[in-house]
Amino acid sequence: MSSTKTPQREVFVSRSAFIFAAIGSAVGLGNIWRFPYVTYENGGGAFIIPYLVALLTAGIPLLFFYYAMGHRSRGSAPLAYRMAHKSAEPIGWFATGIAIVIGIYYAAIIGWAASYMFFSLGDSWGDDAESFFFTDYLKMGDPGISFEFVPSVLIPMIIIWVIILGILLMGVQKGIARFSKVFIPLLIVLFLALVIRALFLPGAIDGLNALFTPDFAALADPKVWIAAYGQIFFSLSIAFGIMITYASYLKKKTNLTGAGLVVGFSNSAFEILAGIGIFAALGFMASAQGVAVGDVATDGIGLAFVGFPTLISQMPGGPIFGFVFFACLVFAGLTSLISIVQVPIQALREKFGLANTTSTIVVGGGMAIISLLLMPTITGLYALDTMDAWANNIGIVGSAVLAIVVVGWAARKLPILSRHLNAVSSFKLGAIWMILISITGVVLIYMLITQIVAFLTEGYGDYPALITGTWGWGMIAVLAVASVVLSFLKWPKKTLEDMNAAIADSVAEENHSNKNKGA
Ligand code: ALA
Repeated sequence: MSSTKTPQREVFVSRSAFIFAAIGSAVGLGNIWRFPYVTYENGGGAFIIPYLVALLTAGIPLLFFYYAMGHRSRGSAPLAYRMAHKSAEPIGWFATGIAIVIGIYYAAIIGWAASYMFFSLGDSWGDDAESFFFTDYLKMGDPGISFEFVPSVLIPMIIIWVIILGILLMGVQKGIARFSKVFIPLLIVLFLALVIRALFLPGAIDGLNALFTPDFAALADPKVWIAAYGQIFFSLSIAFGIMITYASYLKKKTNLTGAGLVVGFSNSAFEILAGIGIFAALGFMASAQGVAVGDVATDGIGLAFVGFPTLISQMPGGPIFGFVFFACLVFAGLTSLISIVQVPIQALREKFGLANTTSTIVVGGGMAIISLLLMPTITGLYALDTMDAWANNIGIVGSAVLAIVVVGWAARKLPILSRHLNAVSSFKLGAIWMILISITGVVLIYMLITQIVAFLTEGYGDYPALITGTWGWGMIAVLAVASVVLSFLKWPKKTLEDMNAAIADSVAEENHSNKNKGA
């Protein structure tokens, strides 16, 4: 944290600090409740094929792309895009906006999980976990927009935001890195214990069979491929500014591609572990109820907050299992949320020349207030669900498309980014990396168009137009306009000077490495 008035660029003191922070960001709610359900819905074992294709051909190559963007310019997302091309700055603001939207609703899910840690101990939901969640806990009203607060959700959310802002106020190394270094190993140990426990439950094998029995016909369905790409992007925390921001805190000489491989494979390993643990548990529940696993596997939110409580009530040692499961959700969520909130904090800090503490309080605090106004209300779940669908399917995908089209294809920056990665990394990239990024661009354009058409023609679930128009299309429109407006505002001279110095440094490093290669 800086004590001076001028903004100081913070750093991760070591590569391991960065790796822990990046894994902390990647491993989140997406791994624990989203992946198992998405896999099950999209062909079970066969989903692993598009998942791995998406990881290897799009996820990891794009991770390298964003690392290079952030590290070369030592800047937040808007600054890094501006460095790539002056007219690309709005893409950086759009990605930052998506991070703001995700952060606003992400905090609510962590707040629910925090409440459920304690509900687990007392089996608070009785024998109807579904009506407990929707009616007793969330106090869900009719679809619409209301500001009638639900204190049982508001209080845990306030606590979550206080923790998040507290960590962020401690700074990048002392806050983000240190917190991730403690909580990621803890999360892994606790989660492994849960998975092992789940594997020993009677019926566990039925759950694993349901998860891994491949339905190869599913591979012909484009929706399955779209789901795989969407899962990889959300899960790796790419295309919403996080990896640009984190890479900008790295020292000049850092093995970027090596770190990317560690982060990418660790995230997927955790995700597959989560799938195994959760389906083993569902197998137990299905066999206890004498029904098929498909009947107990519901959608993302339902799986964690309805399916799991039911399971906890039925299994021996359920209260402890439940407490640990929801604690894992809270830990995984917190280490991701700090990375999400840091994106706008860094961007606005640079744009307006704010001191570190000021920008954390103003930007992070502002996000907290919006989140606390919108989410813990009787209609908060509708807003949350719609923002999640649009932010992921239109926002993240759209931001990646714009990055590839504008920075890669129009401004032709891929060779420069590749040269930068190769100059500082052990694992070198060749032409194949640029080809993969371009193919990904084509695939993503197809996905984006398909999704826009689907939302326009079919809507979203049975939500009324007021909800999808406000939290879906309206939210995307506000972000797009704000991104353009912010790009017209001038950068402080000092920020631009720092950026030019960083780029000059990077160019020197690239030239030096090229000369060595030629010698
Ligand atoms: N990558 C984070 C997650 O999986 C956002 O939840």
